[in-house]
Amino acid sequence: MNPASDFVMVANRLPVSRDDEADRWVTSPGGLVSALVPILTAREGAWIGWTGAPDDAPPPFEHDGMRLIPVPLTAEELESYYLGFCNNTLWPLYHNAIRTPAYHRHWWRPYQAVNARFAEAVAETLNPGGTAWVHDYQLQLVPGSLRSLRPEVTIGFFLHIPFPPVELFAYLPWRTSVLRGLLGSDVLAFQTEQSVTNFRDAALRYAGATEPPGREGELEFEGRRVRLQWAPISVDADAFESAAGRPAVIDSAERLRERIRPARKLMLGVDRLDYTKGIDHRLRAVQTFHERHPEAARDTVLLQLAVPSREEVIQYAEQRERVERLVGQINGEHGDPGYTPVVYMYRHLGFEELVAAYLAADVMLVTPLADGMNLVAKEYIASRTSDDGLLVLSEFAGAAAELKEALLVNPLDLDGLAETLLYAVTISREASASRMRPLRQTVREYDVYRWSRNCLEALES
Ligand code: ADP
Ligand code: F6P
Repeated sequence: MNPASDFVMVANRLPVSRDDEADRWVTSPGGLVSALVPILTAREGAWIGWTGAPDDAPPPFEHDGMRLIPVPLTAEELESYYLGFCNNTLWPLYHNAIRTPAYHRHWWRPYQAVNARFAEAVAETLNPGGTAWVHDYQLQLVPGSLRSLRPEVTIGFFLHIPFPPVELFAYLPWRTSVLRGLLGSDVLAFQTEQSVTNFRDAALRYAGATEPPGREGELEFEGRRVRLQWAPISVDADAFESAAGRPAVIDSAERLRERIRPARKLMLGVDRLDYTKGIDHRLRAVQTFHERHPEAARDTVLLQLAVPSREEVIQYAEQRERVERLVGQINGEHGDPGYTPVVYMYRHLGFEELVAAYLAADVMLVTPLADGMNLVAKEYIASRTSDDGLLVLSEFAGAAAELKEALLVNPLDLDGLAETLLYAVTISREASASRMRPLRQTVREYDVYRWSRNCLEALES
C-alpha cells in the first residue's frame, strides 16, 4: 500500500537517479524538478515514476523532501513500451514524422499495460478528491484509466512534446484510444497554441468530443468538461542568472574563450543527440558558411555539445554517426594545425560548465526540425548577464512563439542558415542588444515557477 497524498505528480521517470558507487539517490537537474520540489514538499505530495533501471522496484522512499513511489518496468517492457512504442512510434510521429514511425501491435499492448500500472499506482496513492498531474507522451492513457478507477479526482495532463497535425496523427492505428486516454483529464495543457488546435481537431474528428457553444478552449467528452490550455514551459531563470554571475563560472567562460582564440566569435550548439534537434543540418549550414564566406567563417568556431540519448534506438545511433562524420569533414576541409572550425563533445556537462559555455558564446544555435519547446534557447538567454549575445532559433521550436526577437530560421534552408550565420557574427552590438534586451525580459518574467503556478491554478480553479 502506497502512502496516501492529496497531490501526485506522474511521469515516466522519477526525478532522481541512482549513484551506485556512492550508494545514494541524486536529484535530477533541471527546471521542472526545481519548480516541483517546493510544490511537492508543501503539499506532502508524491511523485510516481520509474527509477531508470529495469526490474527495479524499491519500496516508496523519501528524498530531498519528496515522497517517491517507484513503478517497475521489466527489461521486455523497456524494449517494447519505452524504446518501441514511446521512442519509435510516438516520438517520430509527434515530431512531424521526420523519421518514419513504426507501428507494432506488440509495442502497443505493453504501452497499454504500463499505462494501466501507472494509473493503478496513482489510484492507490491519491486521497479522496486529490489531484494528479500526469506528464508527457509516455503516459497518455493514464488520465482515462485513472478516471475509470477514481472518477472524483482532478486530473491534469501536460504534453512536453508537440501534438501533431491531425493529418499525421490520423495514421496512428490506436488514435481513438490515445485520445480517449487524454480526454480523461480535466485540464490538458500543451506547449504551443498550435498543439492545442491540433489536439482539438483530432478529438473532434476521432474521439467524438464536441465543442460546447460559447465556451472557447473547452471540449465536452462523455458528459464532462475538458479544458485545453496553452502553457509554454520555461526554465529557472534565476538559477542560470546567478550561476552566470559566480566568479568560478566567469573564469571558466574566460578560459573557454581564450582556448578558442584566434577565432573571433564562438558559436554554440547544446543538444541531446536526437535527430529532431537538426544538428546535422546545422553542421551542413556551417560547412556552407565556410564555403561561401571563408574569411568570415574562419573568424568563428562552433562548439557543439551533445548529450548521449536513447543510444539503443537505431535512428539515434545513425544520427550520431552522421554528426560525427560531418564534424570530421568540416575540420578536414577547413581546419589546419592552428585552427579547428568545429569542436565537438559527446558527453553530459555539469551545470556550471554548461552555464560557462552559454556565457562564453557569442551566438547560440538552436535549430531543431521540430521541438515541443526547447529549453536550451531559454537557458542561453537566462545566462546572459548583459545584452550581448545572439540567439539563432528555429521557427519549428515551440520557443519561437515567445522568443520573437531571436533570429528565426528554417533549419532546412541551408543557404539561408549560412547567410544568417554571416549576419549573426557580423551584426553590430546595438543591433544585437535590441534583440537580446526584450528576450531577457521575457525569460525573466515567464520562468518555470510562473509556468507551474499557471498550470496548477488552471487545474484547481
Ligand atoms: P529535450 O527536452 O528534448 O531534451 P530541451 O532543450 O528542452 O530538449 O532540454 C534539454 C536539456 O538538456 C536542457 O536542460 C539542457 O541544459 C540539457 N543538456 C543538453 N545538452 C547537454 C549537455 N551536453 N550537458 C548537460 N546538459 C545538457
Ligand atoms: O522532451 C521530452 C523528454 O521525454 C523529456 O521529458 C526528457 O527529459 C527527454 O525527452 C529525454 O528522454 P528520456 O527519458 O527518453 O531519456
